[in-house]
Amino acid sequence: MFNRTKSKKGRRSPMATVSLIVVGLMTTGGAYALFSSTANADDSTSTVAASSQSQVNEGEKLFASNCATCHGLSAQGTSEGPSLIGVGAASVDFQVGTGRMPMAAQGPQAEEKPAQFTDEQVDALAEYVASLGPGPSVPSTELTDGEKGDAAEGAELFRINCAMCHNVAGAGGALTEGKYAPSLETVSGKHIYEAMLTGPQNMPVFNDLNLTPEQKADIITYLKYVQDNKSPGGFALGSLGPVAEGLFIWIFGLGAVVAMTVWLTAKSN
Ligand code: HEC
Ligand code: HEC
Repeated sequence: MFNRTKSKKGRRSPMATVSLIVVGLMTTGGAYALFSSTANADDSTSTVAASSQSQVNEGEKLFASNCATCHGLSAQGTSEGPSLIGVGAASVDFQVGTGRMPMAAQGPQAEEKPAQFTDEQVDALAEYVASLGPGPSVPSTELTDGEKGDAAEGAELFRINCAMCHNVAGAGGALTEGKYAPSLETVSGKHIYEAMLTGPQNMPVFNDLNLTPEQKADIITYLKYVQDNKSPGGFALGSLGPVAEGLFIWIFGLGAVVAMTVWLTAKSN
């Protein structure tokens, strides 16, 4: 009886040893994996942070020498230009990427010019302004390449939301006080998206509740379709619609008839 208890106490079952080893291995292995992966994660976030920090510094320098005269040294705004705190990277990417900024001359509306900065410099300026306050960021290419949207859906949305200013075919149109909605015949998908997101000048902002990202992508697909299929019938006459086309016939058609009549009577005299 005594012996039996003793032997039970003194001798562990072989299964216990195996499971102890398994548990031990799993704990050390798990701990190692955990530590090494957090160490890696730390590494990558710190390099990302470092590179975007240097981008912000680069942007700050560009800003001080090109934009601060109108927008203020810390983008707080002056009498010459609005504050840029909270306008977001998307607004800067749009304004500088389309050459509107730096604004050359005060006027009713910032003119589009060839962009004055490289893509990297635009990114740096956008990062700098984004670092001052939260705002819309630059949209991802899958929403702006115009490839996955539905053109028919986009055409309908464009007629409802945009055509009153930009014309049904995106040919552009005049607004009051010397302002105008520009033609959309050459603008890139990214800049279309950013225009909707930030509402430059007299254009309203279309946030994600007004137009979801998918609907914005549909509009881009429609505009890309229009850009790639310009007026198969010949002269577009500004795509102003039946009035312009009727007027064209009146002026040139009737003009030709009148000219012919004048010529004939002149001959008979
Ligand atoms: C000559 C003055 C002037 C200079 C220089 C200038 N801006 Fe502007 N900026 C303006 C004015 C005025 C507006 C508002 C009118 C407009 O949008 O047409 C404006 C608007 C903007 C907006 C739109 C703000 C919004 O509410 O979405 C951004 C972004 C911007 N500027 C960025 C820049 C950057 C970046 C630079 C430098 C590369 C720059 N600007 C240089 C005068 C200037
Ligand atoms: C109330 C009139 C109005 C409406 C509605 C409007 N826009 Fe605009 N849009 C403007 C004006 C004005 C500008 C020029 C702003 C500037 O130059 O600063 C503009 C500029 C743009 C640009 C920049 C073009 C370029 O060449 O850089 C795009 C793209 C654009 N609009 C797309 C749209 C789309 C898409 C819609 C509908 C979802 C829309 N707009 C609705 C008035 C309007």
